[in-house]
Amino acid sequence: GESEAQARFDELIASDARIEPRDWMPDAYRRTLVRQMSQHAHSEIIGMQPEANWITRAPSLKRKAILMAKVQDEAGHGLYLYSAAQTLGVTRDEMTEQLIAGTAKYSSIFNYPTLSWADMGAIGWLVDGAAICNQVPLCRCSYAPYGRAMVRICKEESFHQRQGFEILLTLTRGTPEQRQMAQDAVDRWYWPSLMMFGPPDEESPNSARSMGWKIKRFSNDELRQRFVGMLVPQAEALGVSLPDPQLRWDEERQAYDIGPIDWSELHEVIAGRGPCNAQRMQRRREAHEDGAWVREAAAAYAAKRAEAAA
Ligand code: ACO
Repeated sequence: GESEAQARFDELIASDARIEPRDWMPDAYRRTLVRQMSQHAHSEIIGMQPEANWITRAPSLKRKAILMAKVQDEAGHGLYLYSAAQTLGVTRDEMTEQLIAGTAKYSSIFNYPTLSWADMGAIGWLVDGAAICNQVPLCRCSYAPYGRAMVRICKEESFHQRQGFEILLTLTRGTPEQRQMAQDAVDRWYWPSLMMFGPPDEESPNSARSMGWKIKRFSNDELRQRFVGMLVPQAEALGVSLPDPQLRWDEERQAYDIGPIDWSELHEVIAGRGPCNAQRMQRRREAHEDGAWVREAAAAYAAKRAEAAA
């Protein structure tokens, strides 16, 4: 019965085993995964827009080819994640409908504008760097299809982070104007990248339960702290400063103290009132409408094939 299934599920979680799609799972566990995985997939898809903005203006053919490949990787990440989420019984159409209707969340970070080429470097270094910190532990997520998708995604994210670092390194070794561009991009992307990890632990309603289920392995604040620790030496290597005057090493905690984060900004962006939310959503709707003929043609073709087979 139900209680036996629950006991078996609890045992699998306790022993760090993996839950597969056909295994019994509590409804709330399933709903939490659909929520997080669909938000994650939407983030990858919306996340194509800020960088696509620079494909036509990349400073060389090589930079353009790299950027196009990176944006394609993000489409691929979205598809792995939608596929993984589908194993929970939700359809890709349903998830897409929620995104188009504006009822689904996606990461706050993709609602900021990309104002200069240096932003491609800052996104790779900071945004993809934050994504890696958050996502490496998700490779050990108790829900197996999500963990498996994350393994491939993290490998590609590491590559993305290095290409961003390399763009910034090229700029900081360039002219004073290029150094200034790099610093300006880091100044604008630093705080929003810290907000990617979500609200502070005491205001994170989902964390405790998700950690109990071993979906999340670390809290939002733990991962944010780890991220800052990773950035400081890299910023030194780049020769850029991080825009936090209160940032300092705390010998006792063996960690960096960071200045206050403006949580009202995160709330505003999540509520749909960030600098580019309306534009991102409008563009996504247009792309969906523009793609209608492809979906119709594919469905007609599949129907014809099915008819021929029958
Ligand atoms: N942007 C948008 N929404 C956010 C953000 C953010 N940066 N941080 C938190 N939220 C939302 C949560 O989704 C949740 O909303 P919901 O309950 O309506 O779903 C609410 O704020 C409260 O937050 P938490 O209780 O902390 O939520 P959760 O336990 O899901 O933790 C986190 C949030 C850390 C983002 C988690 O969902 C996660 O690890 N997701 C997978 C990674 C991911 O989605 N990354 C996307 C950006 S990286 C990239 O695509 C390159």
